[in-house]
Amino acid sequence: MGLLRRSPQAPAPGRDAPAPAPGNGHGQSAKPVRAPKPRKPTEEQVVQAQDVRKRYRTGEVEVEALRGVTFGVRRGELLAIMGPSGCGKTTLLNCISGLDDVSTGSVRIEGRDLAQLSDDDRTRFRAERLGFVFQSFNLLPVLSALENVMLPLLVLGNTENEARPVALASMDAVGIAHRAQHKPKELSGGEQQRCAIARSLVNDPAIIFADEPTGNLDTGTGGQILHLLQQLNKERGVTFVVVTHDAKVTDVAHRVLRMDSGLIVKVEEGGAA
Ligand SMILES: Nc1ncnc2c1ncn2[C@@H]1O[C@H](COP(=O)(O)OP(=O)(O)O)[C@@H](O)[C@H]1O
Ligand SMILES: [Mg+2]
Repeated sequence: MGLLRRSPQAPAPGRDAPAPAPGNGHGQSAKPVRAPKPRKPTEEQVVQAQDVRKRYRTGEVEVEALRGVTFGVRRGELLAIMGPSGCGKTTLLNCISGLDDVSTGSVRIEGRDLAQLSDDDRTRFRAERLGFVFQSFNLLPVLSALENVMLPLLVLGNTENEARPVALASMDAVGIAHRAQHKPKELSGGEQQRCAIARSLVNDPAIIFADEPTGNLDTGTGGQILHLLQQLNKERGVTFVVVTHDAKVTDVAHRVLRMDSGLIVKVEEGGAA
């Protein structure tokens, strides 16, 4: 169930159909119609990572941050990734979300091999199909909460009049619409993260990647944020990959991947399975 307005008579394109240009200026939806999202994980793989390796070279020193990682993320799944500091969790998120190139191996998102896309196409694909949530919220301080949430839609070419109601609906979905006019510094940490989650939802993404989303929050507030991710997953079918140290994530996740030294060393069922 998307947050974007859609014209009901528009045909549902196939997964590989080209997306219509956003912001056509006629008040119509900028997004293709998609099938309703599942409330339970399906067998369809949104992400397929195959033998992903990532080496960093700093001067003479080479670090192999990922040493052959293979896994998939199913549509509708809430997948948690846990492991000690430095084991490669952020590197993995960056590699599977196209923020960073893999050294070898492949990553497909909705069947597309990100390495085969031009830089422009990859940037556009990420803006249209992916959502991101970070430990430090990454809100722009000079913009209001609402303007921060509208931003991804404006980048995709929507007008402000098109973006505003969609952004407000997204803020409403995470319980933060009453803070729309506040600047980030006028919000609590938990409210800022809700705002960032609203921003990540606003383009109706195929998947949201969250890197330590509770890392800057106290235990209670962090628990509320994990509960919110679970609610969005259960009620709206949003697919999440959540990197966290918070053991409570095992209650809300379908699966938990345990990493160590650049490898997945264990896969466990979570409480939502
Ligand atoms: N840009 C980089 N350049 C060099 N080494 C890096 C870079 N990013 C991460 N690393 C190294 O890769 C390993 C994994 O880091 P990271 O993915 O950030 O771990 P985690 O998120 O699990 O704490 C660490 O040894 C880290 O020092
Ligand atoms: Mg990290």
